[in-house]
Amino acid sequence: MVCLGNICRSPLAEGLLKSKVDPSKVEVQSAGTGGWHVGELPDPRSIEIANKYGLDITNQRGKQFSTYDFEIYDHIFVMDNSNYRDVMKLATNPYEEQKVHLILEETHPGEKRDVPDPYHGGDEGFENVYQLLDAACEKIAARL
Ligand code: 4NP
Repeated sequence: MVCLGNICRSPLAEGLLKSKVDPSKVEVQSAGTGGWHVGELPDPRSIEIANKYGLDITNQRGKQFSTYDFEIYDHIFVMDNSNYRDVMKLATNPYEEQKVHLILEETHPGEKRDVPDPYHGGDEGFENVYQLLDAACEKIAARL
């Protein structure tokens, strides 16, 4: 699960997908394309919205996406079109490129929708992000 800062959207996506899959079979991680928040806890507003729905994401710490992740993971879900471009730039071959998907294509195929970045917005943004990611992760989990 990849976003820009790895403190708002992708930590929620990681927590949500983890809650829907068998952890002995599926490894879920998140990262940011940027490195500003490496080592940090998720944003307090993400922690709060996760808590509201019974998810604890405080075990997570910020990480930066690296080319090595293409070797580890089978599927790379990005939160928006900007993340998509940044991650695709790091792919070194078509096999790696085909691992990268906009996460909202799960629920809105063909629309190339972004999960809106809630960082500068209010709490309403985090509720919206949570609901969008919950629906998308449900589809992903059903397929894995
Ligand atoms: P995220 O939100 O990509 O959903 O984690 C952001 C968090 C931090 C920044 C940008 C987006 N930032 O510029 O620090």
